[in-house]
Amino acid sequence: MPEKPAERTDRSAVRSLLRLWPYVRPVRLRLFTAAFVAILASCLSLVIPLILKWMVDGPVADRDPGGVWLGALYLLLLGIAEAVLFGFRRWLVARPLAGVEASMRADLYRHLQRLPVAFHDRWPSGQLLSRGTTDLMLLRMFLAFPLTFLVVNAATILVGFVILFAQDWSLGLVLLAPAVPLIVLCSVFETKYSLVARKAQDQVGDLTTVVEESVLGIRIVKGFGRHRSQALAFRALSQRLRTTELGKARLLAGIWALITAIPELAIGAALVLGTIQVADGSLSAGTLVAFLSTALALRWPVESIGFLLAMSQESATATDRFFEVMDVAEEHGVAAARADAPDAPAGMVFEGVEFRYPDAEPGSPPVLARIDLHVRPGETMALVGGTGSGKTTLTALVPRLHEVTGGRITLDGEDIATMERSRLRELVSVAFEEPTLFSATVGENVRMGAEDADEEQVRRALAVAQADFVHRLPQGLDTEVGEQGLSLSGGQRQRLALARAVVGQPRFLVLDDPLSALDVHTETLVEAALRQVLEETTAVVVAHRPSTVMLADRVALLSEGRITAVGTHQELLRSNAEYAWLMSGAEPGGGPDPLTTETLAPAQQVPVEEGTR
Ligand SMILES: Nc1ncnc2c1ncn2[C@@H]1O[C@H](COP(=O)(O)OP(=O)(O)OP(=O)(O)O)[C@@H](O)[C@H]1O
Ligand SMILES: [Mg+2]
Repeated sequence: MPEKPAERTDRSAVRSLLRLWPYVRPVRLRLFTAAFVAILASCLSLVIPLILKWMVDGPVADRDPGGVWLGALYLLLLGIAEAVLFGFRRWLVARPLAGVEASMRADLYRHLQRLPVAFHDRWPSGQLLSRGTTDLMLLRMFLAFPLTFLVVNAATILVGFVILFAQDWSLGLVLLAPAVPLIVLCSVFETKYSLVARKAQDQVGDLTTVVEESVLGIRIVKGFGRHRSQALAFRALSQRLRTTELGKARLLAGIWALITAIPELAIGAALVLGTIQVADGSLSAGTLVAFLSTALALRWPVESIGFLLAMSQESATATDRFFEVMDVAEEHGVAAARADAPDAPAGMVFEGVEFRYPDAEPGSPPVLARIDLHVRPGETMALVGGTGSGKTTLTALVPRLHEVTGGRITLDGEDIATMERSRLRELVSVAFEEPTLFSATVGENVRMGAEDADEEQVRRALAVAQADFVHRLPQGLDTEVGEQGLSLSGGQRQRLALARAVVGQPRFLVLDDPLSALDVHTETLVEAALRQVLEETTAVVVAHRPSTVMLADRVALLSEGRITAVGTHQELLRSNAEYAWLMSGAEPGGGPDPLTTETLAPAQQVPVEEGTR
């Protein structure tokens, strides 16, 4: 799991939110204009009390109906102007902010595509999904609403108090008194709220992960009748989220109650004081009316500050969560070539390669160690080893899905670490154990191996992979394969993945057990066709079965992360007990096996004949 900085209390919402500036910059003019328009509209509403004062002290006191009508007309016009200005503001911000959200989402997606495989191994997909959806939506809403209104309300309150003090400074002071306790309360609230907000957003991520897993794994869920346990897990998580959300609501309700009640009390006190002053004759009735209606007009700006702060807090959290992902370094492009490294021969060469997964326990043995292997140009090397011996890991190092942690891998003498990624992708093609397809057409899936492949190349690749079933599909190459290609059989998917690997006629081919899901006959056919392809390329093929091994010129035996023997199939069968056991299924060193009766010799009689250089 990624670290969750929710416990950190030194984080500042403002500092987090400021990081949004690069995205907001392009639309800053619109945003500032919109804020200005909103301030104008909001201050217009403060003129209304002044008109009321003029009406009460003028036409009303003089019993002049014409004056009252005129006053009413002014009020109506002000109301309309306010409404139009607020509408204008909405129009100003809607489009640019949708743009901001879209560009942030595009950046996140682009970044996720470039992050190393190790990052994706570590981060649950739901956490990434929730960042790309809910969090970004929160941010757009923040920019459209709370950000502007925090500014607008502050400006309105400021102007309002100037007007209040101009009317009567002693009453003004009474209203100002609650400001200090309110500020203290708000800052306490901020701190508490930021913690629960973070918790809630992380829990949404966890929930998304469960939903995603159970949708993708629906076959397993149904096949094993796991509905109940999945539902229970889901319910537990959503209960947790509910509790957190209720906590948020409680905090918000508390601050809201205080923010509403305290100014209300102050207004009450001002009303009493003002009435006494009017009775004394030291204050005009019109001034008191104006004073109180100004105070009432300020109620909304003050009261809304509570939830505006809450929304800002949530947005700060969303920003943190967004940048937690954005801050993870992308795969470093190209390392500087090591000057001291001696020239490597042509072909695919592993020199003292060591690898440990980035999140492995410190001190644990590496998954791969001291791998020295030379696959000569045009040669096919089978990689054989027990399950968990590191075959998949080794093959993943060649296209640099993981970076070696020691030693180097060279292709025709060139260190892959110093190669441009695009060049590496051109040179090396891969097919993995899990034949992953995308929700696209069959043709598009195959062409992922080489975008500019023409019809003929695609046809040839399909032929090599014995994927003739494609032509029997309803729309042939244009048939959609469904999410992850699940509308195809396992063997069909595997053959398409193989076609994808060979379509670009790469110089180097890495196949991780590419034929495991095929029946014996199809396998034989694929092998026959694959043999031609392998003749032209330098290849490493992970193999579990003797029939696949037969495709290779030589075999490397991988045992607990080490290459323990290299030789032809026959040689190893004769001289290496572990290999014989892997290939025949007999007990290692156990009873005689028809295949290897007189050949069960101690392991490693054939030494690693192929050194580094
Ligand atoms: N992403 C990962 N993070 C940490 N450890 C991993 C990761 N992937 C694999 N491992 C570990 O590395 C070791 C080698 O795994 P690998 O997948 O390379 O085996 P394999 O030889 O391909 O096995 P199989 O024949 O079952 O496919 C295993 O012990 C496994 O637990
Ligand atoms: Mg594997």
